[in-house]
Amino acid sequence: MAHDMLDKMRLDGKVAVITGAASGIGAATAELFAAAGARVVGGDINDDGLAATKARVEDQGGECAVRRCNVTVRSDVAGLVDAALEQFGQVDVMCNIAGTMFPGRIEDLTDEEFDTGVDLNLKGVLYGCQEAIRAMRSGDGTPSGGSIINVSSGAIDRPYPGIGLYALTKAAVTMLTMTLAIEAGEYGIRVNAIAPGATITPFTTWRLHNADGSIDQEAYDAFIEEMKGMSPLGITGDPIDQAYMMLYLASDAARYVTGGIHRANGGQTMVW
Ligand SMILES: NC(=O)c1ccc[n+]([C@@H]2O[C@H](COP(=O)([O-])OP(=O)(O)OC[C@H]3O[C@@H](n4cnc5c(N)ncnc54)[C@H](O)[C@@H]3O)[C@@H](O)[C@H]2O)c1
Repeated sequence: MAHDMLDKMRLDGKVAVITGAASGIGAATAELFAAAGARVVGGDINDDGLAATKARVEDQGGECAVRRCNVTVRSDVAGLVDAALEQFGQVDVMCNIAGTMFPGRIEDLTDEEFDTGVDLNLKGVLYGCQEAIRAMRSGDGTPSGGSIINVSSGAIDRPYPGIGLYALTKAAVTMLTMTLAIEAGEYGIRVNAIAPGATITPFTTWRLHNADGSIDQEAYDAFIEEMKGMSPLGITGDPIDQAYMMLYLASDAARYVTGGIHRANGGQTMVW
């Protein structure tokens, strides 16, 4: 049995569509998936970041196509999935990673802010799921073998004052994931989510900027120490830590895994 252990974690022959591929967790996932043998199609609103991801994948001998995609626009997400079908003929893995922080107290939330948060962090994931199922479902009813992976957050595990909108969009992603895991199970499509703990990316600095837009280094260092202190391991995560979790869920090693919310968070949310 052990002989094919690592083979099961490879993605040879698979095509993976990844939103948020220009930066952080999405970029690391694109690189890791390509290194594991997948052909990767990355979407994002950051063209320069997308080009950089594509260059890094190709420098390492991988195959990567990129396309501008605003996940709040359904036709953009459909276009991204269609590009994968046109270029590579299939979609086996869909990673709905694009998202951002929405800080603010619940009592101050405006309708516009609420809609903006839901459009990106929830509807963007919904569109990705729906378009992936369209592409993954086989015409003849044979099990698809597809894997959809959504990105939630450690912020679902405990109320955290000041990021209520963010947390509620991410909590909704978990229910979307679990419900869809049941509905899409009949097509042989697995649906999981990851709920990352503090992972050092451009996202990490969302509340640590000076008035001129530069990073407040002192506040940043204090934030990192605070995040480390929340983990029983005394560390923060890197994008690759989330990418490894994504790789397992994308691979055939996880063929019996669906409807789960998987946490690479250094144990943070146990002691938060
Ligand atoms: N970094 C963390 O600590 C952490 C923790 C929990 C959850 N997350 C989640 O992980 C995901 C990735 O975050 P990250 O840390 O890699 O941040 P990041 O800022 O490095 O990457 C987010 C990417 O999403 C893209 N994006 C933003 N709006 C978009 C849109 N409308 N359409 C398409 N792309 C868009 C950005 O351009 C960026 O490339 C997010 O959903 C975030 O909420 C991150």
